[in-house]
Amino acid sequence: RTVDGGGRYLLPGLIDSHVHFRTPGLTYKEDWEHGSRAAAAGGVTTVIDMPNTLPPLLDPADAARKAAMVQGRSLVDYRFHLGVAGDDPSPLLDATPREATSVKVFLAGHHTAPTVVRDPASLTRIFGYARESGLRVVLHAEDDGVFELLDSWTGAPGRYLDYERVRPRSGAIVAVAKVLELVRRHGTAVHVLHVSTAEEADLLAAAAHAGLPVTFEVTPHHLSFTAADSARIGARARLSPAIRHERDQRRLWEAVLAGQAATIGSDHAPHTREEKLRPVADAPPGLPGVQEMLPAVFTGMRRHAPWQSPGTHLELIARLLAANPADLFGIDGRKGRLLPGRDADFVLFDADTPWMVTGAAMHSKCGWSAYEGWTMAGQVRLTVRRGQIIYDADAPGTFGPPDGRWLDAARPATPAHPTRGAVR
Ligand code: DOR
Ligand code: ZN
Ligand code: ZN
Repeated sequence: RTVDGGGRYLLPGLIDSHVHFRTPGLTYKEDWEHGSRAAAAGGVTTVIDMPNTLPPLLDPADAARKAAMVQGRSLVDYRFHLGVAGDDPSPLLDATPREATSVKVFLAGHHTAPTVVRDPASLTRIFGYARESGLRVVLHAEDDGVFELLDSWTGAPGRYLDYERVRPRSGAIVAVAKVLELVRRHGTAVHVLHVSTAEEADLLAAAAHAGLPVTFEVTPHHLSFTAADSARIGARARLSPAIRHERDQRRLWEAVLAGQAATIGSDHAPHTREEKLRPVADAPPGLPGVQEMLPAVFTGMRRHAPWQSPGTHLELIARLLAANPADLFGIDGRKGRLLPGRDADFVLFDADTPWMVTGAAMHSKCGWSAYEGWTMAGQVRLTVRRGQIIYDADAPGTFGPPDGRWLDAARPATPAHPTRGAVR
């Protein structure tokens, strides 16, 4: 079939290196069929899934079992981040970059986190083992100790006062400072996820500039919402880490536009409508986002850097959401770029036709979006994965074959700084 792409932009299929598709064990929130449809409709052809499932994904055998579960159900290609248990990180020594792209460490407690690692001796072992196994450490960097300290001072543990109260910014900043000290001591390559504050971005950019092997991710929601929006949206915008203030959001945009951030990841983490109807402090943190990501980031770029052309913005998106995640996570070389001889993973994007987000248009099983009512500046028209159309905006409700593959790492991940100095 010949497709007329007239007037649209051609992008490489996006690689979302941060999704929670909830398989196994949490499929009442999201399942692979729905999650991968949302991905395809968002221009994403490859996802890397997080390990905080039930049970969690903790060793190479878990990864193989999960791959067997997902096979035949996914529109998009996939890989997994390995989880780690703080009391026994030894499975890490048997892991190779073939089964897992990286090891995910949660530094703070969360209801669906597999095992939170707080013990400094465990962290030391994990950083050493990961370096030996050639795995990048990806981090949820928030510090529980800081939250407990603040609770003990206010005498009102867990009481919801404002968005900084549920997950105060200091918890994220302290955690990043601790991580940087571990990197300095062990030389392990790390990628810090969902950076939410100006201070984290400052620390990480300075560390990378000084030569430490550190990179970081920002999310569409931290780029799109501020604490004021969160107050209006309520529990659906409860996140960990929390949505911060305008000043933070400006610093995150600077990191994106100046090439300091290496990747954007959706952190697609759906919860049911019922769970999000609870009072904010009791609602589980997380929101869907894999379908909204490309339009939301493009819309934000048009707003925050209107002097640049749409083409410049889409080039930057292709770097942050395809080439850089492919390099960081050793996604095999056929992905992430539009070059002859590569996998035919691509997206046709209409940068001229605005549209409004509705819950009904969302494919995630949860059926809602924090962006409902937003006008997006552009839209995905067609998504092709390995030569097959998996999403076509002109054929609503139909999707391509669910024969996405578990990808092997064909080459080791690059050590660090894929983007330093790349964009000005
Ligand atoms: O907001 C969040 N939701 N933060 C996390 O770290 C986990 C995620 C989830 O799995 O729901
Ligand atoms: Zn996280
Ligand atoms: Zn996450």
